[in-house]
Amino acid sequence: MYNRRKFIKISAAGASLAALSSYAFGKSSILNPPPGFPIVISTWDFGIVANQEAWKTLSAGGRALDAVEAGVKIPEADMKNHTVGRAGYPDRDGHVTLDACIMDEFGNCGSVAAIENIAHPISVARLVMEKTPHVMLVGDGATQFAVEQGFKKENLLTPESEKAWKEWLKTAKYSPVMNIENKQHAPGNQYNHDTIGMLAIDAKGNISGACTTSGMAFKLHGRVGDSPIIGAGLYVDNEVGGATSTGVGEEVIRNVGSFLVVELMRQGYSPEDACKEAVKRIIKKKPQTAKDIQVGFLAINKKGEYGAYAIQPGFSFAVCNAEKQDLLVPGKSFY
Ligand code: GLY
Repeated sequence: MYNRRKFIKISAAGASLAALSSYAFGKSSILNPPPGFPIVISTWDFGIVANQEAWKTLSAGGRALDAVEAGVKIPEADMKNHTVGRAGYPDRDGHVTLDACIMDEFGNCGSVAAIENIAHPISVARLVMEKTPHVMLVGDGATQFAVEQGFKKENLLTPESEKAWKEWLKTAKYSPVMNIENKQHAPGNQYNHDTIGMLAIDAKGNISGACTTSGMAFKLHGRVGDSPIIGAGLYVDNEVGGATSTGVGEEVIRNVGSFLVVELMRQGYSPEDACKEAVKRIIKKKPQTAKDIQVGFLAINKKGEYGAYAIQPGFSFAVCNAEKQDLLVPGKSFY
């Protein structure tokens, strides 16, 4: 059961209109796609604009992998977003370190962790997948690889993020804040977001996923969360479905959350029930910790059915296919 936080009228959706129309009115190069496909879903309110970008690829008959990479690059580039990509809040030492991973329909995957000075970690993760025999590059090695691949080194610490970091230094209290953006920018800020995790099924029925974040604000230097860990922040099995997560990554890693969700769907759980079970495992393992943190899972199965569940209220996710663009809020959370 999901509540619609905002219904985005297609006619008011700006850039997405042409893309939605081209599919709906049969200009797509793909004939007779399965009903409900293509489809893209992603975490938080900023998933709406990310989905719109992904939809351009999907509606033209493109591959889910290309769609998810293009989609999550939107929040990565958003200067108002302090939890993903450029303008992400730094660690406690003032370094902006980014984590991202990507996974395709063949089980190929690539990841970067604690990469610095590169604005689009998701694209570096894709090149790790496509151009190296490895899955994961970290720290200086990841930055070095990105530069070798032609990425520009940039200072990602914006004046606004630097100001917030200096403010935090006054107390230097290290405690994760639930649904962090809402709290830090309220009132007047419509965003409520964290990591972006995106899952897409293309017109051929193939699934891919992407996940990208600047991680916990003011974290210890070198801290890596769930987002770049295949199986934790993201997992795709083209026979079953895909899952992604947001929130306090340590608890997701402890439970290999996204892999768990996909394996539960393999056993017959619906996407929502699989997400709920993963949340319950987190709570069971560390009930005292779980009371005060947020973790949300989002999943889609091979049929295109999707679902989500979170520890706390406040989690949202965006859905886009040929019929609709929605921003949904799970009707229930654990607390
Ligand atoms: N889920 C993002 C992080 O914990 O880094």
